[in-house]
Amino acid sequence: MKRASPPNFDQLAFKKALGQFATGVTVITTRTDSGQLIGITASSFNSVSLAPPLVLWSLATRSASMSAFQANSHYVVNVLAASQLDLCKRFATVKGDRFEGVSHAAGDSGMPVLDGALAWFECHNRSRYEEGDHVIFVGEVERCGIREDAAEIAPLVFQNGQFHGLKPL
Ligand SMILES: Cc1cc2nc3c(=O)[nH]c(=O)nc-3n(C[C@H](O)[C@H](O)[C@H](O)COP(=O)(O)O)c2cc1C
Repeated sequence: MKRASPPNFDQLAFKKALGQFATGVTVITTRTDSGQLIGITASSFNSVSLAPPLVLWSLATRSASMSAFQANSHYVVNVLAASQLDLCKRFATVKGDRFEGVSHAAGDSGMPVLDGALAWFECHNRSRYEEGDHVIFVGEVERCGIREDAAEIAPLVFQNGQFHGLKPL
């Protein structure tokens, strides 16, 4: 196979092009053995496989949460509603306890499920792949659920650096 040519764009142009792809927004949560709750905002979530049920997301190598997500056997992908923009910002920026004042309940694996999430996927930390400046996490979904009123709730959407709700065309 032929090798890749060097990029013909700079990093800013790459980010701008990637940013045109609209995504949902998730908060990925886990709990360390010592009981510390960890959470991070991530828009890199996507589906992988139906059978077995697999999902993926990626985490920056420099992330302070990397060691927890590398070591823990389980995590939860919480899909945010548009009304949860505050949680999106909180789990992307706060340096201290990101769970302070955030209502949540423990899933069967003991990992935190955020109240009001549009959907949640409780995952076994199946595999990890180091690529460039990120690690790709593949999770095997053990349980999932949606908000009872999910059909009437707008998801949080991220595109071109801005947040949106979503209306059907
Ligand atoms: C909308 C949005 C999407 C994000 N998606 C990701 C992502 O997919 N992967 C990632 O590593 N960081 C992502 N981030 C950045 C992290 O949430 C942010 O760097 C976080 O503070 C890292 O926390 P930590 O260093 O404590 O682990 C995103 C931030 C925002 C606002």
